[in-house]
Amino acid sequence: MPMMAKARESFSGDAVTIAYNKQIARNYDNERLIEPRRLDEIVKIAVDHTQRNRSFGSGDVKILDLGCGTGFFTIPLAQRLPFQFTGADRSEEMLEIARSKAAGQGIIWDVQEATRLSYESQSFDLIFMSNFLHHFMNPLDVIEQCVRVLKPGGLLINHYGALEDIIKDPDHKFFQQAIDLDVRRTPARIQMEYLLKSAGMADITSRKGTYRLCHSAQERVKMVENKYISVFHMMDEMTFQRGLKELKRYAESSRFDPWLREIVLTTTCGIKA
Ligand SMILES: C[S@@+](CC[C@H](N)C(=O)[O-])C[C@H]1O[C@@H](n2cnc3c(N)ncnc32)[C@H](O)[C@@H]1O
Repeated sequence: MPMMAKARESFSGDAVTIAYNKQIARNYDNERLIEPRRLDEIVKIAVDHTQRNRSFGSGDVKILDLGCGTGFFTIPLAQRLPFQFTGADRSEEMLEIARSKAAGQGIIWDVQEATRLSYESQSFDLIFMSNFLHHFMNPLDVIEQCVRVLKPGGLLINHYGALEDIIKDPDHKFFQQAIDLDVRRTPARIQMEYLLKSAGMADITSRKGTYRLCHSAQERVKMVENKYISVFHMMDEMTFQRGLKELKRYAESSRFDPWLREIVLTTTCGIKA
């Protein structure tokens, strides 16, 4: 079986995402935190790559944040990197929030369907994605689009929770249904690397880190209560409330457990050969 078909087959299943509507868009940024170290690491990857590729120095370095949502990463990254940023997402509601932010004025915000990007081939030097590919039945379709719109030598930076890490986190530990749903849609680190390779990318590397997600156990409970990640919207309400009760009980008894404040994330990068 050809490699691409094999990669595709391993991710087939039912629909795996939600609509990011007005209500979700309005609440999306609330209580979320990006530890500055996370941004620093992404910035370093982008800067190191552009410095190694001198051809990028001939004009503006163009970077696409694919699945940018409310610009939660796009804006702080644009504040740190002297690149021309485009944020693309299919949700008008998420983009409306991004556009309303004063700090995002210099960014191009585009409505785009990630499996059918309207950009010309070889338009971008870098593509960044965060918390994105688990929304697709066939993530390879998106990665192939990324390869198409990247310039030769261009870099894809994919920042995500790998399956083997997220199933151990507080958002899954107390919610068996969240595990059942995410097992169907979330690539493990090795699968993510394989997907990039299948799409023809080279020099694939992954780096895993543990980061601060919130300041206290109570904050984590509040985030879950507000269904801060899509899997909670995909669960049935009774099961969700049962898991929430268990999480609250644990948070009450172990309020200083650092596990409740943390998140484990991976950044997998690949270069368009
Ligand atoms: C979990 S949010 C991540 C947003 C942002 N990257 C972040 O980390 O804060 C996922 C985003 O993917 C977008 N999305 C889902 N499916 C999409 C598709 N087929 N094409 C473009 N965007 C999509 C959603 O609208 C949503 O804004």
